[in-house]
Amino acid sequence: MENIGYYNGAFAPIEELMIPACDRGVYFGDGVYEALRVERHRFFALREHLSRFRASLAFLRIPFEMTDEALTAILQEAADRVESDSQQLYFQVTRGSAIRTHAFPEGAEPNLLVFSRGVPLADLSEHRRVIVLPDTRWEHCNVKSLNLIPSVLAAEAAKERGCCEAVFHRNGVVTECSSSNLLMLKDGVLRTAPADEKILPGVTRGHFLMLARKLGVPVEEIAFTLEEACGADELMITSTSAHGLPVGELEGRAVCGRDDALLRKLQKAYRDYFYASVEN
Ligand code: PDD
Repeated sequence: MENIGYYNGAFAPIEELMIPACDRGVYFGDGVYEALRVERHRFFALREHLSRFRASLAFLRIPFEMTDEALTAILQEAADRVESDSQQLYFQVTRGSAIRTHAFPEGAEPNLLVFSRGVPLADLSEHRRVIVLPDTRWEHCNVKSLNLIPSVLAAEAAKERGCCEAVFHRNGVVTECSSSNLLMLKDGVLRTAPADEKILPGVTRGHFLMLARKLGVPVEEIAFTLEEACGADELMITSTSAHGLPVGELEGRAVCGRDDALLRKLQKAYRDYFYASVEN
């Protein structure tokens, strides 16, 4: 199949999947999600995604009792039903279904939604253009909640201006992007914002930092300003789907291109690590 969806025990193509109108994900976005890569029907970094998923569930106090093993079996079945060798798999858990009332409803059971579809790996060669916007999100961006309106509006603003991402800042200090982290290379040092409540602790970000350390590249988890970003040797967007995309234009200004060798070395280290992980 080209894609598959799953909801509380039933599989169907995504376009045909029906979910109840009173799923609290529909009217409150009361749930959490994860997105991961499936390569040749094997998961990349499943352990890290599950651990972030459990942390998000704990923050929202959603009592999802399914074990990682049982959940993994469902995710695997979804991935196996899709033919493509390169998939993006999404899953979300909401607090449950109940008549709309803000406080947690009595007796509701969490709902599990999964879908997977073929999505080719990103082409990392070209430099991309990004816009800059104020970060108007809440104070818990480390939680992967379903409430994504500021990110949706920012992604659309970027698209309307022919860009692939929107870089967020709070008072001139870069946090991350609408659906990715931002890493900077300056004088041979890899720098990115610390993993606090202002950013999502990206799985890809973590792998880039780990690989840089292994390669002897100094790493600093210290936030940088927009001005510093403009003076970066290189900027890179990292996410499950983007892997490590180089940035060439920030808010209409040509930037980067000053440490292509190190940028390509890190990109290659990541892709090698990615392929090695799904082969083992
Ligand atoms: N986005 N920051 C934000 C705000 C994100 O939404 C994401 C992921 C990331 C990168 O995280 P990771 O490396 O674990 O994918 C950073 C996913 C892909 C999404 O929303 O679909």
